[in-house]
Amino acid sequence: MMDVVTIGWLTMDDIVLTDHRCRPNVLGGGALYSAIGASIWAATVGVHSVTGRPFLDRVRDAIKRRGLDTEGIGAIAGNGLQLWLLHETAADKQQVPKLTSSSADEMDRGRGPMPAAYAEARGFHIAPQSPAGSIENARRLGALPGKPIVTLDLLSDEFIDRRLYADPGFLANVTAFLPSEAEVARIWKPTDLHAWLRALASAHACHVGVKLGEQGSIVCDARSGALTRVPAFPAQVIDTTGAGDGYCGGFLAGLVAGRPLAECAAMGTVSASYVIEACGALETERPDPVERDGRLRAVLDGISTAA
Ligand SMILES: Nc1ncnc2c1ncn2[C@@H]1O[C@H](COP(=O)(O)OP(=O)(O)OP(=O)(O)O)[C@@H](O)[C@H]1O
Ligand SMILES: [Mg+2]
Repeated sequence: MMDVVTIGWLTMDDIVLTDHRCRPNVLGGGALYSAIGASIWAATVGVHSVTGRPFLDRVRDAIKRRGLDTEGIGAIAGNGLQLWLLHETAADKQQVPKLTSSSADEMDRGRGPMPAAYAEARGFHIAPQSPAGSIENARRLGALPGKPIVTLDLLSDEFIDRRLYADPGFLANVTAFLPSEAEVARIWKPTDLHAWLRALASAHACHVGVKLGEQGSIVCDARSGALTRVPAFPAQVIDTTGAGDGYCGGFLAGLVAGRPLAECAAMGTVSASYVIEACGALETERPDPVERDGRLRAVLDGISTAA
């Protein structure tokens, strides 16, 4: 049985870093970065996504060489999603589709049903995509027998209609919701983040983790309402693209392994630390388990209760 399946976008990115250096043609997307983050802890990880037909063989081969399952990767007409990823400051990024890119809706409609073997996975990550795609995936996964573990992340860039996320009813079948602080601010504008986290987690019986970039993350337990602050790992940052996706993949691997919530967040943090020490999802180091577990202990040692 597959441990983890990620559902979302594969992209071809031109990344502009804060010092204006540009890294062209980097294979990325939330489905891939989160799968890499999960694979740091989990043995079998599949990717359910699409790419542009001209690139299908190359993309599948590259991802397969990394040890991920590619049965769920198909093709759509056109080039697939091609993005400018603009890092304006260490904390502020925006994504802009290129003129030659397929659209967000074409990517999500083109993905189609997942392979039968994937439907039996223990955990699923709904990576950032169009709101209609996120909401439909959460509904479909909730209807699977055995109610799988589901994590969900989103994006709020200008090229999607973020108002569609305003009603958090889509969290009904989600085990852990993992947005970034910037997304929460843009979509829900809470005046008190901690109170908002507690109310959301309790109303939807869903753990909620908010990602805070180099400040780490805060997680709220759905059952107790307890808030835990998890520090970032002091990584040698090369490129923070995919940090949030890598975090989600590691977090889900923790949930699937039955770890306590704070440890899931720490596993996500460790996965993110490896992602940001490379440029490009597939360039991420395959860590030695001893070194990886050392990072996990360091993050766990820094965990504290948030008021
Ligand atoms: N500069 C950094 N140094 C160390 N760790 C970082 C840094 N940036 C991000 N991280 C780690 O990655 C996690 C997720 O990053 P972030 O909060 O930026 O998510 P995000 O906004 O969803 O990212 P993106 O959408 O760009 O992938 C953080 O909780 C932290 O553990
Ligand atoms: Mg993100």
